[in-house]
Amino acid sequence: MNAVLSPSSAGAPAWVKNPKLVAWVAEMAALTQPAKIVWCDGSAQESEALCEAMIERGTLKRLNPLLRPNSFLALSDPSDVARVEDRTFICSEKREDAGPTNNWVAPGEMRATLKGLFDGVMRGRTLYVVAFSMGPLGSPIAHIGVELTDSPYVVVNMRLMTRMGRAVYNVLGESGAFVPCMHTVGKPLRAQDADVAWPCNPTKYIVQFPETREIWSFGSGYGGNALLGKKCFALRIASVMGRDEGWLAEHMLILGVENPQGEKHYVAAAFPSACGKTNFAMLIPPAGFEGWKVTTIGDDIAWIKAGTDGRLRAINPEAGYFGVAPGTNVATNPNCMASLARDTLFTNVALTDEGDVWWEGMTDAPPAHLIDWQGQDWTPEIGKATGKKAAHPNARFTVSAINNPVLDADWDNPAGVPISAFIFGGRRSSTVPLVTEARDWVEGVYMAATMGSETTAAAAGEQGVVRRDPFAMLPFCGYNMSDYFAHWLTLGRQLEKSGVALPRIFCVNWFRTDAQGRFLWPGFGENMRVLKWMLDRLAGTANGVEHLLGTTPRFEDLDWQGSSFSREKFERITSIDLAAWRFELGLHGELFDKLSYHLPEELAAFKATLEQRIAA
Ligand code: OXD
Ligand code: MN
Repeated sequence: MNAVLSPSSAGAPAWVKNPKLVAWVAEMAALTQPAKIVWCDGSAQESEALCEAMIERGTLKRLNPLLRPNSFLALSDPSDVARVEDRTFICSEKREDAGPTNNWVAPGEMRATLKGLFDGVMRGRTLYVVAFSMGPLGSPIAHIGVELTDSPYVVVNMRLMTRMGRAVYNVLGESGAFVPCMHTVGKPLRAQDADVAWPCNPTKYIVQFPETREIWSFGSGYGGNALLGKKCFALRIASVMGRDEGWLAEHMLILGVENPQGEKHYVAAAFPSACGKTNFAMLIPPAGFEGWKVTTIGDDIAWIKAGTDGRLRAINPEAGYFGVAPGTNVATNPNCMASLARDTLFTNVALTDEGDVWWEGMTDAPPAHLIDWQGQDWTPEIGKATGKKAAHPNARFTVSAINNPVLDADWDNPAGVPISAFIFGGRRSSTVPLVTEARDWVEGVYMAATMGSETTAAAAGEQGVVRRDPFAMLPFCGYNMSDYFAHWLTLGRQLEKSGVALPRIFCVNWFRTDAQGRFLWPGFGENMRVLKWMLDRLAGTANGVEHLLGTTPRFEDLDWQGSSFSREKFERITSIDLAAWRFELGLHGELFDKLSYHLPEELAAFKATLEQRIAA
C-alpha cells in the first residue's frame, strides 16, 4: 500500500511503470480531489488493514472467528441493494449501436454530466488504485483493468473477485493496455461530518463508453454497479471487444464433467441472474452417478476464443464468486456452503446471536432471533407478521475461487479449457421443456436469442414477470443486440470454415411448475441426468425425439439410476403445448420487431419455418 500524494506522479510507487496509467490517475485525482491516493498492492495485509478500518467505521462487522474465520458482514444502505438496470447506459457514438435494449445518451452529453458529478466527489476520501487482470495473468484471452474507487469495500471485494495488485503491474509493464474503470460512491466527506456506514448517492449512473472502452460508475457501492471488473468490463465492454476482435464474452458458468472412465468435457452455460449458475457450476452428482465428477472453472462469466488446437477455449475472467446467498444450503449446494466456511465477505444477510450469518433457505427453521439485513431485531414471529425477510433476497457472498472444494485443476490455466457444448436456460414455469438440443448452430442461436425468463431480485424492479433475455445477456450486452446475434452467427460460420469444432447447443428449463406453483423437477444434483444426456449426445450414444424446436429426450433416454422421478412428471416437464408455443412465437415476433434494425435474416427466416411447423 502506498499513500503519498503528489500531483504529477499521483504518488505512484516504483513498481508502477506505466506512464499512461500514472497520468490518468493524476488527471482523475485532479478531478475528484481525494484527500489521498493509495496504490493497492493486493496483499493480505492491505486487505486486513482495510477491513479493520471498515470495522471501526461500522461498514463491516467481523463474524465469530470460531464459527466463520476471517469473515465479515456488510449491511448496505436499503436503497443500494441490486444492479440498477434503468441507470445503466451504453454511450456509443450512434444510438443504433447501443440498440433498443440499452439506455443510451450521447457520449458528449454524458461526459458533461459525469464531469459535473465527479468534480470534487472524493473530497475527504481516499482514492484507491486497483489494478486487476480479468483472466489468468498473462493469458492471451485475459485483459487488464484499473479501477479507481473511493470505496474500501470495493477494494476488498475486488481482491476476492479478480487477480489484483502487484503482479498485475508486472504484466501491464510500461506500455500495456488497460480498461479505465472510474468509480465513486458519490458522497464527498466534509471534515466536520462523520462518515456513514454505507455511503452512496440517490443519483446513480453506471456508464459504459464502448468506443473508448471506458467505464464510469457513480452513486452505488453494491455488486455489479461498483465491482467494475464484473458486469461493466467482463461483459459490457468485453462483448464489444469480442465483436471487434472475433471472440465471445458471455454470461456463462463453465464446468468440467468427468465420467468414471476419466473422459472429460467442459460446458459453458448461460442463465439469467439468480437462476442457479453457481449451483450448476458446483453440482454434486446424485445417487446412481458414482464415479462422476463435476468441477468448476467459473460461475458467472466466460471469455471464449478459438484456440490453436481447433477448439473454442474458455477462461473465467473472474477469480471469485459474488453469489446470491438466499436459497443456498447444505442440501442444494454443499460445495458452495463449504466454500463459505471462512474468508468470506457477506453483504445483506442476517446476523445470528452467535455472530454467524443466516439467510432464508439456509436451514428449514430460522433461528429464534436475528439481526436482519437492515440492522433490526428479527424473529420468525416478526417475519410472519410483517413479511419482512431476515436477509435481502439479493443478499450476496463474495469469496475467492480457491475456497471452492471442487475447483477445476485448470481454472487458472492461461490457455483456457476446450468447450464441448453451450447450454442456455431461462426460468420458465411453463412452455419450455426440460432440455432440447438444437439441430444446428442457427437453431441454437435462435433458441438463445429468443430465450425468456421470469425476473429475479438480482436487479431492481418488478419480479417474476417473463421478459425476453437473449443469451441471458439483456442487461449485459454492450452493443446492439441484433449485431450481437449476427456476431454469433458470423463467428459460427467462420469457425466452421477454419476447421474449429463448433460446440453443440442445448436449451434447458429447470423451473416448470405444477398448478400450485411447485417446481416439478428437483433440480440441483439431479441436473446431472440432463448433463449426462448431453454428453451422450456428443458421443452419439443417446436418443431423443425431434420436434418443433430441436431434439428432446424421452423418459427412457435419460439415466434414472438412483431416482424415483416418475414418467408422468417427466411428460409434464417435457410436454410441448402447441397453443402455448403459438403464443410464445408471438412474443418472439414482438422481440424481433423491437430488434428489427440489423436483425439477421437467418433468424427471421427460422421463425417463419417454425410458424410453418406449428401450422402443419
Ligand atoms: C450477478 C448478476 O451478480 O448477474 O452475477 O446479477
Ligand atoms: Mn451474473
